[in-house]
Amino acid sequence: MRNLIPSWIRVPVLFFIVLGTVEFFVDSGNQPAFVKYPAVLLFLLLVLFILISIEGIVGSLENVMFQKLDPEAKAKFIADRNKSVQLDWLKKTYIKLLGSKPIEQEAEIILDHNYDGIKELDNDLPPWWKYAFYISIVFAVVYLLRFEVFSGQNQIEEFDTELAEAQVAIEAYKKTAKGLVDVNTVTQLTETADLAAGKNIFNTNCVACHMADGGGGIGPNLTDNHWILGGDIKSIFHTVSEGGRSGKGMIAWKAQLKPLEIAQVASYVMTFQGTTPANPKAAEGDIIVDPNAATEGAEATTEETQETTETQIDTTLQAETPAEAINE
Ligand code: HEC
Repeated sequence: MRNLIPSWIRVPVLFFIVLGTVEFFVDSGNQPAFVKYPAVLLFLLLVLFILISIEGIVGSLENVMFQKLDPEAKAKFIADRNKSVQLDWLKKTYIKLLGSKPIEQEAEIILDHNYDGIKELDNDLPPWWKYAFYISIVFAVVYLLRFEVFSGQNQIEEFDTELAEAQVAIEAYKKTAKGLVDVNTVTQLTETADLAAGKNIFNTNCVACHMADGGGGIGPNLTDNHWILGGDIKSIFHTVSEGGRSGKGMIAWKAQLKPLEIAQVASYVMTFQGTTPANPKAAEGDIIVDPNAATEGAEATTEETQETTETQIDTTLQAETPAEAINE
């Protein structure tokens, strides 16, 4: 077998088999595995290196052995090698599959008509063509039975199944991907990391008008349960994303903040509820009781209050006077 295929074919073929196997088994999304994971690239290079080294070592071993042979054996060895390197078997199968008569034997199959000197050979159908034809017959029978008799899925049904699967996958993805929130899917975030991020966003963008403790200034007081534009997470998300009533000074933040950031800052704003700011602005708007609050259970509420008191303490320390805030 070794002598049957020359090394310049053997090395690339083995290499691409390894490459194909790696690509098949390593899940790398829509990027090739060796692009996504440098380790895979390293592995492939190593494989290539080893393949080439093996070729080199075997080649030189053969050479050493050859030098030790007596002249008669040398001649036999060379004859053997030349025979195989010519890819005899490949040539033979090729000729067999073509099934054409050599030109010397054409006289046997020539037909006895003659159109202005153009003659016709009665060649057999080439075997490669015949085999392909037989295979297609087998295929047709299997196909007919599978799809017409045993009613396999047709393309439209296949498409529908895939679509349904994709829909399920999208739903699952949406559940885990926080960044994809919009006003319809947003939920109040309670993780410390999210609230810390929200606090950060609030302190950078919102304190000028709402105060660090949410007590209010140019903007309304965010700590009371009076809301002009609604105090549930969806309404607050909407207010921050789309802005307040025109002319009041609360801009739409969707250009500056990503959806996840809006959700974080909105959740942080909700932690102000029930806290006492240093200089509370008079309540504006209607009292709105969050309809979800009752169903979410008392446990969550106490936890939240604890957390807000903590944040309350350190935000009060940073609180600036309204004048300072506006001058910034
Ligand atoms: C330039 C001053 C200003 C800044 C900065 C500002 N707001 Fe406002 N905000 C206001 C004003 C004014 C209102 C009242 C809007 C209205 O009456 O329609 C408001 C209203 C709100 C409301 C609704 C309050 C209610 O009672 O319904 C929320 C929530 C809010 N802001 C959150 C934020 C957040 C979060 C930020 C930072 C990303 C922010 N604001 C930045 C001025 C500001």
